Amino acid sequence: MTTRIGVVGIGWWATTNHIPTVQSCPDAEVAAICDLNADRLRVVGEKFSIAGRYTDLGEMLAREALDGVMVSTPHVAHTAPAIAALEADCHVLVEKPMATTAADGRAIAAAAKKAGREVLVPCSLNFTDFSAKAASMVRAGRIGTVRHAVCQMGSALDDLFAGEPMLETADHLFRPPASTWADPAKAGGYGWGQMSHSLAWLCYVADIRFESIFCMDGKSKTGVDLYDAAVGRAINGATVSLSGSATVPKHVGMHVDVRIYGTEGCLFFDTERARLELRRLDGGDETVALTQEQTTYDGALPVRKFVALCSGRPIVNGADGENGARVAEALDALYRSARSGRLEQTGG
Ligand SMILES: NC(=O)c1ccc[n+]([C@@H]2O[C@H](COP(=O)([O-])OP(=O)(O)OC[C@H]3O[C@@H](n4cnc5c(N)ncnc54)[C@H](O)[C@@H]3O)[C@@H](O)[C@H]2O)c1
Repeated sequence: MTTRIGVVGIGWWATTNHIPTVQSCPDAEVAAICDLNADRLRVVGEKFSIAGRYTDLGEMLAREALDGVMVSTPHVAHTAPAIAALEADCHVLVEKPMATTAADGRAIAAAAKKAGREVLVPCSLNFTDFSAKAASMVRAGRIGTVRHAVCQMGSALDDLFAGEPMLETADHLFRPPASTWADPAKAGGYGWGQMSHSLAWLCYVADIRFESIFCMDGKSKTGVDLYDAAVGRAINGATVSLSGSATVPKHVGMHVDVRIYGTEGCLFFDTERARLELRRLDGGDETVALTQEQTTYDGALPVRKFVALCSGRPIVNGADGENGARVAEALDALYRSARSGRLEQTGG
């Protein structure tokens, strides 16, 4: 049986990544699309041969008998469609950041639990086999109790967060707009836009939830954060140093570097050097062999996992509703702190 997927928000990323990836899966189809922009529905519907086109999500959910819904609206518009799709009994892929307030993040996670459906936030690194292995090492106590972490990320996106066209999207059907990425009133900026990835990895692998965060930032010309320097405390007392930078040269690209320190050892993960290493105080070290290709960002991977989930096949969900809520509450506190100049509680 063909798995029926609906897509809400058919802008840059949905048309570049989500729709083509679902259409490349042999057992799935994009049965319907929904967007507020009727012109886009026509253009995208024709280009990808999708018959079901809606400006009203309720109508799409009522008519289409969908197995899964992918929400790829701007950051600030994820919550209502995600909850509506969960209440319609669908599994839901919600783009990162899953929500832009702690309360909305918790509301989505609670709606998933109530509906008995899965939320998957497509932070691709979380869906790799090596990340699942890293998470299981920490859960098995291989580094002991987590006491400290360093979580650093850099991206070559100074144009995007300055409200300019992103260089490498010149030939895409739609380009990522300043309104989604570079408007401080709509959760633009590096934290929501990119550190949502590194935080998702940290919260998943280290299994931590933040209690409080203090942040200083540096801004782009549109007034969103290009740089974030933050410290946080996790609920278990662990201290965390968080850093993000949008101005990596284009020819270098994105990197994530996370180090997790525990009472019995530490875990080092670094996409640039393709490194995942367990280093134990007793010398019982382990190196997970990784290639550069394995640590290169793969936007299709979580979409293929989502299709598998919607088809009833088992998956390891490395960024579920709980993970998305932890990231949302951390970033909510981080931005409040950058504004207030004070340490802020997460309040999730
Ligand atoms: N996981 C990743 O690697 C990755 C990569 C790129 C983008 N994203 C995420 O994807 C999301 C979309 O980014 P984008 O650059 O494609 O944005 P975009 O602005 O290009 O597209 C958003 C689309 O949503 C539509 N829309 C807005 N509100 C709506 C609503 N309430 N109902 C239906 N449609 C609505 C808009 O008309 C637009 O077509 C963002 O949250 C972004 O963080 C994730």
